[in-house]
Amino acid sequence: MARPCALVTGASSGIGEAFARALAARGHDLIVVARRRDRLEALASRLRDLHAVDVHVIALDLSVATSIDDLVGALDGMGVVPDVLVNNAGFGSYGAFAELPLDRELCMIDLNVRALVALTGHLLPRMIRRGSGVLLQIASTTSFQPVPYMAVYGATKAFVLSFSEAIARECEGSGVRVLAVCPGHTPTEFQEISGVNRRPTRTAAQPAADVVREALGAMDRGGAHVVVTGMPNRMTTQLPRVLPRKAMSWVVSRAFRPRK
Ligand SMILES: NC(=O)c1ccc[n+]([C@@H]2O[C@H](COP(=O)([O-])OP(=O)(O)OC[C@H]3O[C@@H](n4cnc5c(N)ncnc54)[C@H](OP(=O)(O)O)[C@@H]3O)[C@@H](O)[C@H]2O)c1
Repeated sequence: MARPCALVTGASSGIGEAFARALAARGHDLIVVARRRDRLEALASRLRDLHAVDVHVIALDLSVATSIDDLVGALDGMGVVPDVLVNNAGFGSYGAFAELPLDRELCMIDLNVRALVALTGHLLPRMIRRGSGVLLQIASTTSFQPVPYMAVYGATKAFVLSFSEAIARECEGSGVRVLAVCPGHTPTEFQEISGVNRRPTRTAAQPAADVVREALGAMDRGGAHVVVTGMPNRMTTQLPRVLPRKAMSWVVSRAFRPRK
């Protein structure tokens, strides 16, 4: 690949697809990963036509532990260490933890946490050896406090934020930058898949393309370890700094509790 290369996980829809489009428009060759090969192939074909970049499709279920070895093996086979890694693939669920299928909650941890750490763990040392690279780790506004009725999802995103901020500090001076991206409500397939569209209250929505524009703007400016996209989200994520923890979880519980 002659141009800078970006690897985007979860590029078959929503925020990941928007990252793929924006990075291709900036002249990056792409490696796009998700389960739905047909969606990735259609995206790849559009981006090749629009931007004359190379797009490589890898269809994998990243919640399967061995999939990261398969992905890293494919990258090694291509001789590629991405310049930009967008660790984006993820899903959520909605409802009281005790009533949700446990298998799906554990699969969420495998994808949102395990796969993200594993891919970071394989690619970060290669980037550090090269002396350059950017990791965009997709966290959430739910990273900042417990989220009753999305308990495991919120915990996975708290993990992503904590982990990413920590390694961002560790990477200072290495030439590699790590940025935790924290979107709020972004209309994508996420709402239908998680079921969170059944929650009683609505929050301000931000289009996926705007999330990506803000994230890439923060990446270009450098310096930040965390970017919360959207002004309303920047305000609400400050609440845990002023409210006691118990009050905070009560507020969120009121906002998320399913209707009877
Ligand atoms: N939408 C929001 O309101 C919001 C807010 C904050 C943070 N986020 C985060 O943003 C990220 C992207 O979500 P989105 O809103 O764009 O949702 P989305 O439209 O449902 O996209 C999720 C992407 O992840 C991929 N994916 C899901 N399971 C996978 C698996 N097992 N293996 C590989 N890929 C998998 C999906 O592709 P396949 O189905 O083809 O595999 C899809 O490309 C997630 O990490 C989410 O937690 C979303």
